[in-house]
Amino acid sequence: MNPSGGLRWHWRAWRSQRQWQGTREHLAQWLESVQPASDQLLLLGPSAGWLLPSAFLTRFGQVHCWDIDPLAPFLFARRHGAALRAAGVSWTYQRGDAWANLDKLLAAHPQAAVLFDNLLGQLRFHGPGTGSEAAAHAASVERRITRLRRSLGGREWGSVHDLLSGPGRLAEPGQEMPMRRRKLRAGVPLAQDGWLSGLQPQGDWLDHLTAAVFAPGTTVYDIAWPFKPGYWHWLQAGWVAPASVSR
Ligand SMILES: C[S@@+](CC[C@H](N)C(=O)[O-])C[C@H]1O[C@@H](n2cnc3c(N)ncnc32)[C@H](O)[C@@H]1O
Repeated sequence: MNPSGGLRWHWRAWRSQRQWQGTREHLAQWLESVQPASDQLLLLGPSAGWLLPSAFLTRFGQVHCWDIDPLAPFLFARRHGAALRAAGVSWTYQRGDAWANLDKLLAAHPQAAVLFDNLLGQLRFHGPGTGSEAAAHAASVERRITRLRRSLGGREWGSVHDLLSGPGRLAEPGQEMPMRRRKLRAGVPLAQDGWLSGLQPQGDWLDHLTAAVFAPGTTVYDIAWPFKPGYWHWLQAGWVAPASVSR
């Protein structure tokens, strides 16, 4: 079973389209601020692209998607195919493990920009679920995520990922969902960031092990995502463009 994708994910995403509309708009706002210099995009973990605007994809001439989910290519084509065809974008969709094969993928697409599309925060679930093996898996995911920036050095890349998730509720129904743009500062623990206090968070939120994806100084968008009734995800989105490739 796919713990972060597959039928369960598609069913939830399809059913939640109205509740997730604000999140989709926040992500679109972030992506509008991105100015990719490359004509190619390596898109990792996009599933059907439930939260992704087609308008971002049509800024590229070629899009290469990778996901482990066998249903994803068909559903991605249904959601984005018409817009991609109309814009003359050629795209491929490969079923496979983008995390295990990352170095090979980067070598095969040396000029491509890379977008981790809500993949990095899911990696901790793709391993043993309990006991010391789960702890070892989590530690190894966290170590590799910490090194990710180095593997991508010199290339333009971005990621949207879960930072934390847990129970909460908006103080007032209909209140605008929190979103902020900021420069990451070093040494501010997530637990001490009062940004989500408007959601009245309860208990310990789950750490998705992605706090080290971006370097201090990166401009990021923090987005509160109403994942399911009474349960929120803190999404973080950012784009890194080294001076050598930025427009
Ligand atoms: C939470 S879903 C996000 C889906 C997508 N961003 C969207 O908007 O629909 C995470 C996706 O990552 C995929 N995934 C998880 N681990 C992966 C891996 N190692 N390689 C490729 N895809 C992976 C899952 O199959 C799933 O489709």
